[in-house]
Amino acid sequence: MHMTISVAVSGASGYVGGEVLRVFSEHPDVQFGALTAHSSAGDVLGLHQPHLRTLADRTIVETSADTLAGHDVVVLALPHGASGEIAAQLPPETLVIDCGADHRLASAEAWAEYYGGEHAGTWPYGMPELITADGRQRDNLPGSRRIAVPGCNVTAVTLGLQPGISAGVVDPTDIVAVLANGYSGAGKKLATNLLASEGLGAVSPYGVGGVHRHIPEIVQNLTSAGGDDVRISFTPTLVPMARGILATVTAPLAAGVDAEQVRAAWETAYADEPFVHLLPEGQWPTTAATLGANTCLVQVTVDAKAGRVVVISAIDNLVKGTAGAALQSMNLALGVHETTGLQTLGVAP
Ligand SMILES: NC(=O)c1ccc[n+]([C@@H]2O[C@H](COP(=O)([O-])OP(=O)(O)OC[C@H]3O[C@@H](n4cnc5c(N)ncnc54)[C@H](OP(=O)(O)O)[C@@H]3O)[C@@H](O)[C@H]2O)c1
Repeated sequence: MHMTISVAVSGASGYVGGEVLRVFSEHPDVQFGALTAHSSAGDVLGLHQPHLRTLADRTIVETSADTLAGHDVVVLALPHGASGEIAAQLPPETLVIDCGADHRLASAEAWAEYYGGEHAGTWPYGMPELITADGRQRDNLPGSRRIAVPGCNVTAVTLGLQPGISAGVVDPTDIVAVLANGYSGAGKKLATNLLASEGLGAVSPYGVGGVHRHIPEIVQNLTSAGGDDVRISFTPTLVPMARGILATVTAPLAAGVDAEQVRAAWETAYADEPFVHLLPEGQWPTTAATLGANTCLVQVTVDAKAGRVVVISAIDNLVKGTAGAALQSMNLALGVHETTGLQTLGVAP
């Protein structure tokens, strides 16, 4: 039976909103309703998203409970702190998918420490592949009417390392993650450090020294996967590319574990995952190979001299890191096959 799913997208002029529109357009049942934003309200979408030709003539409207009413699904792609208030005004039967951070953290204390202000509450977490105490997070999503889409860096680190945590082959108390990030991760806002003249010839670290907002969410996920006393040193760097995240994550090899057991942990964890792919031994993920696709590419090895497991994972921050995860979670919440409308073929070169 063919059904129509009406979807409103808030933040439609932004990077995530634009990618939600592109990715959700591939879904056979999705029909777009209101496209909302803030300062761009009144403009046609084509002014802000010229690559979305089929929607170029649609007019952006102001974001309010009224303009978002009457849809099956509302996707919020707003700056953090803005979605809690609007979500609270939407009816409980509407599936609300928040791409921002407002509803990801279980701990109000962690929210206050890393984001500040009132914690908006905790929603079911939109990472179907996340390992939980009794299975995978996808089992918790059917029937949900509120979903918190994970942070993009969080997705890269969690999907990279969680098999080792779950299998007990790495020590979770000494994780080090260094990431190379494309500029779209920072959103469309104007800022000096995001200017081409600053960034095109540079690799620049940011959020250094344990202060990045994605840290508590990574700890939450790796704890879900079975980690006890998870501790992570996390350093992202901006590199001159528009999209993509390459995460290099290392952790001490657990006592008595060999390289075969390490590989087996990752093979077992991802054998049946449609979107997370462990590459053949010796082949390393690149961001280019995930461009435009809802995939996370992973490789793992053991640095025997250092006594550490080394994992590399790559995603497109706007697809598996946001819009693709949103669509995958929507499918699960509405009882549609999880992979419907989702692309595993990237754009290359
Ligand atoms: N970029 C990524 O890779 C990524 C990945 C995962 C999650 N996220 C999260 O997704 C959210 C959106 O990020 P983004 O990168 O798309 O940011 P962005 O490019 O700056 O877009 C922000 C959008 O929000 C709208 N907006 C701003 N203030 C608003 C308000 N008070 N009320 C209603 N709409 C408002 C803007 O509308 P106007 O342009 O009309 O003002 C714009 O459409 C953020 O919470 C971000 O943390 C981003």
